[in-house]
Amino acid sequence: MGVTLIKNGTVVSPTGATPQDVLIDGEVIVAVGAPGYFAATEEGADRVIDATGKYVIPGGVDVHTHMELPFGGTSASDTFESGTIAAAWGGVTTIVDFAVQRAGEDVHAGLAEWHRKADGNCAIDYGFHQIIGGVDEESLKAMSYLVEHEGVSSFKMFMAYPGVFYSDDGQILRAMQQAADCGAMIMMHAENGIAIDVLVAQALARGETDPRYHSYTRPSPLEAEATHRAIVLSHVAGNVPLYIVHMSAGDALEEVAAARHHGRNVFAETCPQYLWLTLEETLAKPGFEGAKWVCSTPVRSKDNDPHWKGLHGHGHQADLWRGLRMNELAVVSTDHCPFCMKDQKELGLGNFAAIPNGIGGVEHRMELIYQGVVAGELSLERWVETCCTTPARMFGMYPRKGIIAPGADADVVVWDPNRRTKIGINDKHHMNMDHSAYEGFVIDGKVDTVLSRGMVVVENDQFHGRTGHGQYIKRGLSQYLV
Ligand code: URP
Ligand code: ZN
Ligand code: ZN
Repeated sequence: MGVTLIKNGTVVSPTGATPQDVLIDGEVIVAVGAPGYFAATEEGADRVIDATGKYVIPGGVDVHTHMELPFGGTSASDTFESGTIAAAWGGVTTIVDFAVQRAGEDVHAGLAEWHRKADGNCAIDYGFHQIIGGVDEESLKAMSYLVEHEGVSSFKMFMAYPGVFYSDDGQILRAMQQAADCGAMIMMHAENGIAIDVLVAQALARGETDPRYHSYTRPSPLEAEATHRAIVLSHVAGNVPLYIVHMSAGDALEEVAAARHHGRNVFAETCPQYLWLTLEETLAKPGFEGAKWVCSTPVRSKDNDPHWKGLHGHGHQADLWRGLRMNELAVVSTDHCPFCMKDQKELGLGNFAAIPNGIGGVEHRMELIYQGVVAGELSLERWVETCCTTPARMFGMYPRKGIIAPGADADVVVWDPNRRTKIGINDKHHMNMDHSAYEGFVIDGKVDTVLSRGMVVVENDQFHGRTGHGQYIKRGLSQYLV
């Protein structure tokens, strides 16, 4: 790889956008200097990238992906190979995926299984969270072991999906106490799954089987209630750090904002689908097409949902964009969990509750949130902060990841604000899916060049990376704790 100089670009960090040159030696950034400062080095450099008129940003860090996740009677359609290549196409250089343990299963075996799937197969770097789907003495002990020895410092629990990953309040409290003990983060899928299952059964009994009922039976008050309950439990467990995943609702966000106002270690992420997609334009499409957008938490109504009028009759998207600006939402991830329509989403033909839950988006997060910059929803700096720097810090990878600074891994994206990206199955689309959740979206910007630990993996609309280049990142504790 040798020495790479990226010159004439504008380096963007959470604190500013400044004309700067970036010098890379091998896999690491060795210096950042004023434009022209490395002119003497340029002749001997192995590669010079001219970033005139472009932004130079840290590689994207997507801390919520599900490659090859067995779920809903099938498995997420991206392998670690196809998913990490698609991620690279989207300017993402690190993912954190979720290893799985279910009730009665061994946590160590679950983690080993995820290493088996990923090791040697990734084009970019990767880490793991651990799903704890069964709380018992063995799994609790394993949590501490994973933090200390395996570089896994965050554990996802579910208040949803009874009979699959669900834990009750006592089990959640017990796992939170364990996490508090070892400094780990609890990541929470906050939806009241018991109440949702009642609504689902009632809807099906009425013959309401179309995809739109997926959202109607998961109303936002049940996300807000679960968020509140998770916050209370985390308080009782000793202010254990709590991170609410895939937040979709303004009323749930209010719970996080209130907790943060009281100085609590409570954080939240949202995803592009909740910022850009509405129930009316997706799930409610005629026939079965809405199945493409079945995910949980659900894509929500643009304003007054006729089924839940008065309960969440306000604009969730505006709330979420505001939350991102205000740091009530710290991170944008994708919850990338792709399923094809054919043979996968189709499992739920005639029964929305049998549609595998998930949307693929790992390739498009940097693009879709940049479009928020163009639309005036957030600043360039906040784009980098929510998509690169904070996810790295939140999950113990900073400053190796998430920043352009001497000593950091040379994970760098050159971003061209003067070109456009058309997303779609016949346009830009590298995920292993037979459709795109963002079909037809046009982004006023484009991934130009992507480096992963010094290696150019995307350039001139070509993939130059290598399966197996990606390394496992042993993560430390969250770097946001008080
Ligand atoms: O619909 C989703 N989100 N599928 C993936 C599993 C999860 O809950 O994150
Ligand atoms: Zn979830
Ligand atoms: Zn998820």
